[in-house]
Amino acid sequence: MNAETYWQTEIEKCHHLGLTRNVPMLKFLDATHSVTEIGHELFVVCSNDYLGLRFHPEVIEAAKKCMNDGGFGSSGARLTTGAHPLADQLERDLANFKHSEAALIFNTGYMANIGLISAIGRSGDVIFSDEKNHASIIDGCRLSHAKTVIYPHRDIDRLRELLNEHRSAQSCFIITEGVFSMDGTIAPFPQLLQLAEIFDAHIIIDDAHSLGVLGESGHGTLEYFNIPPSPRIIQVGTCSKALGSLGGFVCGTKSLVQYLRQRSRPFLCSTMLPASALAASSKALRILQTQPERVRRLKQLSEIAKNVFSEYGIAFPPEATAILPMPIGDETMAMKVFENLYQQGIYLAAIRYPSVPLGHARLRLSICSEYPEDEWRDALSCIANTIKEIVGHF
Ligand SMILES: Cc1ncc(COP(=O)(O)O)c(C=O)c1O
Repeated sequence: MNAETYWQTEIEKCHHLGLTRNVPMLKFLDATHSVTEIGHELFVVCSNDYLGLRFHPEVIEAAKKCMNDGGFGSSGARLTTGAHPLADQLERDLANFKHSEAALIFNTGYMANIGLISAIGRSGDVIFSDEKNHASIIDGCRLSHAKTVIYPHRDIDRLRELLNEHRSAQSCFIITEGVFSMDGTIAPFPQLLQLAEIFDAHIIIDDAHSLGVLGESGHGTLEYFNIPPSPRIIQVGTCSKALGSLGGFVCGTKSLVQYLRQRSRPFLCSTMLPASALAASSKALRILQTQPERVRRLKQLSEIAKNVFSEYGIAFPPEATAILPMPIGDETMAMKVFENLYQQGIYLAAIRYPSVPLGHARLRLSICSEYPEDEWRDALSCIANTIKEIVGHF
């Protein structure tokens, strides 16, 4: 079969299985509403802009000012055409925010994971990765020279056994998400850290969905569990979610960051983010630090959702905050619910394979601190009724 025929066969297969992906054309009007090409307005309940900072006037103004002063693109990788001073400033701010020695910015969270894991995983090392880790972690492991061992989701006992079996490894790394992006579950970080200490491993925590969400002031997983920073802990994050901007980062020791500056290919070989994105991230980080009420509001809206859904017999992991997954199972059924809600003015994306395993399709409801409470309550009832009507059960 030649390549062209193979591509067509795969497209048909996706169609047949109800897995075709189409990119919707949506223009956001504010943090929580968008409009389609034909003017159909939608209340968006699945964005990662958890604190509504994407549309914050100060964030927009900071980016605009930067563009007016220095243009849009950045002309090259940092090591070739140099970096805007805001890059160093943002790295210092992120390191402070994450209570770590140093930070390094990448263009996206995806690149941060790839850039970190591929650079630190040497031949003879072993990476222990939670089975539900994000694609960027999986790809980082694939690109590294280390052996990857997958452990069952949040299964500490099994991880201990696996660590034991690999005692002779040169270096070990345990990798987990803080809040798992598709399930809303939280990593058992204290127990993972304990294992890391026992087995002298490093622990990498991807806080993509924890920043701005977990902990009283949104610092992420360490704050949530009240765990002090340690050279053993490497924190990954992204500015693309709760900070409403763009760009990933790694926080760790000075030597880790220096090493990544020398060896991490996405850092070395890709054009730097535009300074406007750095300015937007810096401003958003400052707003998060000065307005912790946004984080509290997120939690209140999450509690409202749990209460409304409990009336319909829908339960969520007790610790779930900004991500509330609603399992549907069948891909076609999930799309039916999506389409029905869309007609009713609610945009709630159906998550299907390959983002989740086949037969585990779901609606991934996420919360933004800016949801108007009445609209949120109405949307929740509408979602629950629609699922009940189409799927017949929860
Ligand atoms: C856990 C996790 N890590 C990393 C990323 C990638 O971040 P970005 O969108 O900034 O590339 C995502 C994105 O969805 C994610 O869910």
